[in-house]
Amino acid sequence: MSEYWENRFITEDKIWGETPSRTAEYVLQLFKDHDVKKLLVPGSGYGRNTRLFSASGIKVAGVEISEKACNIARSFDPATRIFNDTVLDMSFLAHNYDALYCHSVLHFFRDYDRPLFIDQCVRRIKKQGLMFFTVFSEKEESYGKGKQVEKNTFESKPGRPVHYFDEDDLKAYFKNMEILETGIMEDPENHGSGPHTHILRYIYVRKT
Ligand SMILES: C[S@@+](CC[C@H](N)C(=O)[O-])C[C@H]1O[C@@H](n2cnc3c(N)ncnc32)[C@H](O)[C@@H]1O
Repeated sequence: MSEYWENRFITEDKIWGETPSRTAEYVLQLFKDHDVKKLLVPGSGYGRNTRLFSASGIKVAGVEISEKACNIARSFDPATRIFNDTVLDMSFLAHNYDALYCHSVLHFFRDYDRPLFIDQCVRRIKKQGLMFFTVFSEKEESYGKGKQVEKNTFESKPGRPVHYFDEDDLKAYFKNMEILETGIMEDPENHGSGPHTHILRYIYVRKT
């Protein structure tokens, strides 16, 4: 999977453009309301979302496996501290983040890695800290396309399995936390085959 992303960033550079995801704009307001000062962004890509948060005065750290994406991020969003490493072991980070924002990463992990990844995230956040995840929902146009490799997990693009979450499935991963909000959010993108809209599911939780 890391090779897949490295190749994409090498050939497509800023794949999703320079504009942040709609979900990041939404979360920024939530985090401002809660006076978030220190934010962790796992799977930070080339920094289109971290830049929104850092520009608003939040101290941001990103963890990203693609070296190429990290290099782009370091010039595109120099205010954010980028770690070129895996989010499956973030033990090199402190445990004192006020909040975490993770956009379009969790659904790329297989069933054995999803709880491991979430556990790594929870460990980095303070008690009462906030976390916001977005994932592909079962309403995505690509749901059910390609080879099924696990329940609700399809290789809609060869070599890139994606897990599609329904609401109960997503909530189950966060059953030990206070669930503040869940929902569906449309997220328009324009790359590859042209303009299209992702039907994302999100969950906003507080560590208890
Ligand atoms: C769909 S992209 C989203 C990037 C970014 N969140 C954004 O919205 O622009 C998924 C990202 O997760 C990163 N990623 C995948 N597996 C990872 C891992 N094990 N550790 C760190 N980053 C990973 C990829 O390299 C890629 O940048």
